[in-house]
Amino acid sequence: MPIDDLAGKTAFITGGASGIGLAMAKSFGARGANVMLADIEEEPLKEAIKLLSKTNTQVDGVLLDVSDRAAMQDAAQKTIERFGKVHIVCNNAGIGAGGPMEEVTASDWEWSIDVNLKGVAWGIEAFVPLIKEHGEGGHVVNTASMAGLVPIPGFGPYTATKYAVVGMSEDLSMELEPFGIGVSVLCPGFVATQIGNSRRTRSAAKYGEGNEPDQDSIAQASDAVAAGIPADAVGERVVECILENRLYAFTHGEFKDATAARFARMAEDFDSISNSDAINSVDPEVKERQLAASAAIQEAQNLGNS
Ligand SMILES: NC(=O)c1ccc[n+]([C@@H]2O[C@H](COP(=O)([O-])OP(=O)(O)OC[C@H]3O[C@@H](n4cnc5c(N)ncnc54)[C@H](O)[C@@H]3O)[C@@H](O)[C@H]2O)c1
Repeated sequence: MPIDDLAGKTAFITGGASGIGLAMAKSFGARGANVMLADIEEEPLKEAIKLLSKTNTQVDGVLLDVSDRAAMQDAAQKTIERFGKVHIVCNNAGIGAGGPMEEVTASDWEWSIDVNLKGVAWGIEAFVPLIKEHGEGGHVVNTASMAGLVPIPGFGPYTATKYAVVGMSEDLSMELEPFGIGVSVLCPGFVATQIGNSRRTRSAAKYGEGNEPDQDSIAQASDAVAAGIPADAVGERVVECILENRLYAFTHGEFKDATAARFARMAEDFDSISNSDAINSVDPEVKERQLAASAAIQEAQNLGNS
């Protein structure tokens, strides 16, 4: 059964020392949940633990680079040792890297994929079995972005990895529905956090020195982030979406039209198939076989959505 009350539940949150992760921790703690914070930045992590302790939240923390698969497993064990069970996992840590696509460095691609994509995959791998194990149900919150549904030109690695998080979450929601575990993919527009200063967490030892990003796109995005909604509102919105078991945790209604426009364009391009000589010339027998295979896949998708 999906979560209907946060009191007494335990939540694990990556990127919990700042911005949206910290805001989720505050919102969960205010409703009586225990919170395990994980972050790559040690001092902010300590400060976040201190801050939450003052609100009487049962809180602990673990220093973690989400791209380190073994360290994620250790963090899961530490969460169980500290709180006994875990019910909610928020794969939230993320970084922003960009620049015109043909100029993005290989190391920025690697960094983006390591943190934004693999960090979510390792969190799912380590924590979902622990949620399944106790059978009390639970919830996975994966932080993508509005950039996971509509692209931000100039931020190719960010857009690509956030689209991946949306896809992973849609898939996961079908896989976990039979176990009473809900999945939400958080897709905010701009939120006033430190995301514009992501490079503070980029390891030079792992990804090399230099590789300064395109300053124009960074400056433009930083202004938009500074004008964003407060992270605390997003933390509260996440609670609503967990309790309502919403797959898409949206926070910025103004992006509805852009998302609809993307789907309308897809529909138009689907419709153009009817005029396609290339596709219309496929052998009808092959087509029939293919239709049956596609129908089977779609049936599996519908089962997941039921
Ligand atoms: N702020 C926005 O406008 C916005 C919009 C859409 C989506 N998001 C997403 O929200 C999530 C949280 O970002 P935020 O805006 O709160 O930014 P933030 O920089 O304030 O917080 C991100 C946190 O993640 C941590 N982190 C970074 N790399 C890490 C790693 N390898 N391992 C562990 N922790 C790591 C940072 O230390 C930081 O505490 C990200 O996934 C981001 O992409 C942000």
